[in-house]
Amino acid sequence: MRFSMSWRVLSLSLLLVGGAAFAADGAPKAAPAAAAHAAQQRPGHAAIASANFHATEAGLEVLAKGGNAFDAAVAVAATLSVVEPESSGIGGGFMAVLHRAKDGRNVFIDARETAPAAVNPKDYLNPDGSPNRDTALKGPLSAGIPGEPAGLVLIAKRYGRLSLQQSLAPAIRIARDGFEPDARLRGAIASMQKDLARWPASAAKYLPNGKPPAEGATWRDPDQARTLELIAAHGDDGFYRGETAQKLVAAVRAAGGNWTLADLANYRAKERTPISVDYRGYKIITAPPPSSGGVAIAEILNILSGYDLTKMDQATRVHYIVEAMRRAFRDHNDYLGDPDFVKMPLDMLLSPYYAAGLRQGILHDKATPSSMLPRAEAPEPGMHTTHFSIIDADGNMAAVTSTVNYTMGSSFVAAGTGVLLNDEMDDFALVPNKPNVYGLLGSAANAPKGGKRMLSSMSPSIVIGADRTAVIGSPGGSTIITQVLEGILHFIDGESAQQIAAHKRFHHQYLPDVVNVEEGTFDAATSDALTKMGYTLKPRESWGFMNVVTWDRKANKLDAASDPRRPSGLGKVQ
Ligand code: GLY
Repeated sequence: MRFSMSWRVLSLSLLLVGGAAFAADGAPKAAPAAAAHAAQQRPGHAAIASANFHATEAGLEVLAKGGNAFDAAVAVAATLSVVEPESSGIGGGFMAVLHRAKDGRNVFIDARETAPAAVNPKDYLNPDGSPNRDTALKGPLSAGIPGEPAGLVLIAKRYGRLSLQQSLAPAIRIARDGFEPDARLRGAIASMQKDLARWPASAAKYLPNGKPPAEGATWRDPDQARTLELIAAHGDDGFYRGETAQKLVAAVRAAGGNWTLADLANYRAKERTPISVDYRGYKIITAPPPSSGGVAIAEILNILSGYDLTKMDQATRVHYIVEAMRRAFRDHNDYLGDPDFVKMPLDMLLSPYYAAGLRQGILHDKATPSSMLPRAEAPEPGMHTTHFSIIDADGNMAAVTSTVNYTMGSSFVAAGTGVLLNDEMDDFALVPNKPNVYGLLGSAANAPKGGKRMLSSMSPSIVIGADRTAVIGSPGGSTIITQVLEGILHFIDGESAQQIAAHKRFHHQYLPDVVNVEEGTFDAATSDALTKMGYTLKPRESWGFMNVVTWDRKANKLDAASDPRRPSGLGKVQ
């Protein structure tokens, strides 16, 4: 897209009224004074919020041994792999935004899965050309080459203080000695029982005696403990080469998949520059492609910067937020993919001028039907993906969102490894213009190709203001983006970590043209006003689980909150 000169001039004046500013780099030089200030302080205590108390405790244990937030992130992620396998694990991938206190460095860790070199789009089609949902979501063809082990090794080596043996010790101990699966994990296994029963190693791991583990049962996984020990001892080589790699490839190929040893050996986790956007005096540091999340959040905030949301009734505020979401998701569908493979118009998408142009098309009292924005259906998000947030005593921060994609990933465990593989291949646009499991459409930019990373919605974010900082993120498929956006807005409005995590939520993703609403979000008058503006409100029961830590730097107070929607979560300050 090209802009004429007069349009640019007009947009600039709109921008000046709106007061937004965007910077496409994560370096402290672009930060408001607040961010630089944050780097000079230390809280003296640490806070961790994750979706499972074993994982939060593992992170705190590693901090107590002298580790920093990054060592704790390795411990939390690896422990979630053991105790919350329905959401994330070493058979999957993660995305993280890290803030290092000593030099103010912000970095994005891309441990997203890649397509195997032999990926064949026809494998995801039925003979009649329709999408084959089974190969896309179940079994070895649905699995990308895992990124989580390489990402954890990278974080430990470049940012941690402790050895991998020390950071992985709690996860190895829990896998070896056992733990009691919580109700959520038992429910996830029950919901996927038919699929898990299709592969002997999956059934052996998740269906002892042919059934999901019973309440109160102790569950041990010596195979996963051994795989984690090999990673602890040999780093990348413990997973991507040697014994584990051979077992993974043999299991995948025996079940009809196409991984090779070279696919594993060639995998690299990457450091990338995060996206940063300034909004109402706060700097938001968030995920760049191959996540669509940060681009969408920046685009939405740039559009919203032209309005004073604090001076509006709820219906009008929701109207402007939904219209901004609609426009950002339209662009998400069309433009975004793996930056190592596709050229994306990020300068345009992240530009305040572009946002100002989009803002002009928003009527003050009416919904814009998506069909009138020149270009799809979303089911409920399931029990997949997880997010945790950490701030340590020195002010280091880690926002980490990790996933095996849909609940229990591919349901395929590679025999002898204890590794449940992801089903991330479905996050590619496997069939152009046919929605994936989250109802998201894709274009050529997100077509599958050997070695390419599939687009993600994961949006781990750090928000830094003059006196207050938040580390924030959520699971939730396509709703990750809008939930994190709402969390950022609530934080900037002054809410506490607990209030943010508990806040009712809504979501719009361009198509389907409906506003998904959590029960209790809007009162009757607001629902009525939104309906009159042309919105279709649709109740949605399942929402992501937000884990937030905040640091009030004036009062030097840390706070940690785990989403009350998930009772097994724990936010703790120590
Ligand atoms: N697998 C969900 C995501 O990465 O967006």
